Amino acid sequence: MTTITFIQPDGAAREVVAKPGESGMQAATRAGVEGIIGECGGSCMCATCHVEVAPQDIGRLPPRDDIEQEMLESILTDVPEGSRLCCQIKLVPELDGLVLHVVEIAG
Ligand code: FES
Repeated sequence: MTTITFIQPDGAAREVVAKPGESGMQAATRAGVEGIIGECGGSCMCATCHVEVAPQDIGRLPPRDDIEQEMLESILTDVPEGSRLCCQIKLVPELDGLVLHVVEIAG
């Protein structure tokens, strides 16, 4: 079981238990987490699943691939280390306890 926590800009926290094989975006949209839309269905084309990974968890994730990097660069002048598109985060059991901060949707 992989439980992750989404934190809203106002500090409200929401725990979501991921189903096997889900991405962060899929788990969030299934649970109705505010601010995570997933407009493109997880194809790395919309950035409506943008999150900031909690500092202590950044190193637990595999690095962004080129497509995710380019999409983030298209919405941010400087891409912070923790910025991710959570449709690209596969919620494997090793990520249990992951904390993701929901950020404003760009554009
Ligand atoms: S759902 Fe569109 S980029 Fe993640």
